[in-house]
Amino acid sequence: MPKTPSPNDQRMQREQGDVNTTHNRKRYWERNLAPESRKWFDEDCRYFLHQSLSTPVLNVIAGAEGACIRDQKGRSYIDMHGNGVHNAGFNHPAVVAAVRRQLDEGLTFCPRRYTNIPAIQLAKKLAEITPGGLCRSLFCPGGSEAIEMALTLSRQVTGRFKTISFWDSFHGAGFAAAGVGGEEHFHGGIGPLLPGAFHVDFPNYYRNPWGFSREEDVDAECLRQIEHVLAREPEMSAVIGEPISATPVIPSKRYWEGVRALCDRYGALLVFDEIIEGFGRTGKMFACEHYVTPDVLVLGKSLGGGLLPFAGIVTHEKYNTLPHRSIGHYTHEKNALCAAAALAEIGVIERERLAEHSARLGACTLQRLNEMKNRHPLIGHVAGLGLHIGIDLVRDPATKERAVDEAEIVMFKCLERGLSFKTIDGNVLTLRPALVITQTEMDRALDILDQTIGEVERGGSY
Ligand SMILES: Cc1ncc(COP(=O)(O)O)c(C=O)c1O
Repeated sequence: MPKTPSPNDQRMQREQGDVNTTHNRKRYWERNLAPESRKWFDEDCRYFLHQSLSTPVLNVIAGAEGACIRDQKGRSYIDMHGNGVHNAGFNHPAVVAAVRRQLDEGLTFCPRRYTNIPAIQLAKKLAEITPGGLCRSLFCPGGSEAIEMALTLSRQVTGRFKTISFWDSFHGAGFAAAGVGGEEHFHGGIGPLLPGAFHVDFPNYYRNPWGFSREEDVDAECLRQIEHVLAREPEMSAVIGEPISATPVIPSKRYWEGVRALCDRYGALLVFDEIIEGFGRTGKMFACEHYVTPDVLVLGKSLGGGLLPFAGIVTHEKYNTLPHRSIGHYTHEKNALCAAAALAEIGVIERERLAEHSARLGACTLQRLNEMKNRHPLIGHVAGLGLHIGIDLVRDPATKERAVDEAEIVMFKCLERGLSFKTIDGNVLTLRPALVITQTEMDRALDILDQTIGEVERGGSY
């Protein structure tokens, strides 16, 4: 069993997800681990190097399909987390078939210096479906590496090294990605990260430290911060951020237009991390389509079809100027198996019109959550775009004090009722289901949430 961290450790860990060291978590294990699962749980604890958030685990998974995961007792959970890999649903038959076909063809790994048809077709497809003339791709195994390719490209084409990114953001666990990330959890205890990584506030209209009630004022302050750094630190290579934050906070179009204009004025590249938000999550194929076209679009997670790790960047022709440098010299940069999974995933999203489904079902879900907010004082705020939704639980709607303990109880009670999601910042329930989730599944999930939040408001404990 892990040692119990200090309250401050727990606060930092909660920036990224629910913590796995609380009493409620222990209670969850006691009540829910099947004897068979207990054995594997213990072995997992025995052989993995423990780290915050991921070991000890919640439970042992036996399978996943569509919008759901299944434990070893055969209990099914609507999974509203899925780590963002499950846009086309878990194990979509078309993606599985494409991967099987590729395996049968005997072309999986592609040694560097060679190419292959699936990799070429994927780069071509991304040039077709990404907006605003983005047309040149590079691939790699994971999102953190893709972020680092975007940083390398920005440094090479600008000849500068500094960056502006956002407090509370997450861009991956590698040194450079963690350096531009804004969470202490990934900075603490490892010494200096990247030099010249400046951080500014992301526009948060519900929770801003200045007491502004008008979105325009929040935008103006956040743009002022960016311009302030740009003006004082002329060596800026890039501004990097997610178009929409993880909880989510959804900035105005005006804000990103302002950032785009500042980047252009000061000669910095705009890099959008759409590792979570790409591929239909926000109701459009790419989240930047709600806003402005970046110089570099970073993709990952669902790019691997929910089956394989794959990520990459897409950028403009004008940055294709570095044939003498390596931007991402990755062993798996043209992996045919990963490319086949990615092509199949994109095919599913297009054929099943999952971006449109995400927009429609997301709007209905928000409507119902806002109706719940009127009945539940525990719900302070609801935000979302497409199927990227957050519910901010508060102890008091006036002070907006974060209802951290209550959120954890809601989470474990919902899990026992077949609904899985993660909390961010301790008190925000984040709902990011597979985009194949049906209206019926969503209704069931919202019924569970409605019932559970009501119980916790009435003092229900776990
Ligand atoms: C927004 C965002 N960027 C980057 C990453 C890093 O991706 P990976 O875990 O594949 O390195 C993540 C992973 O959670 C993410 O959510």
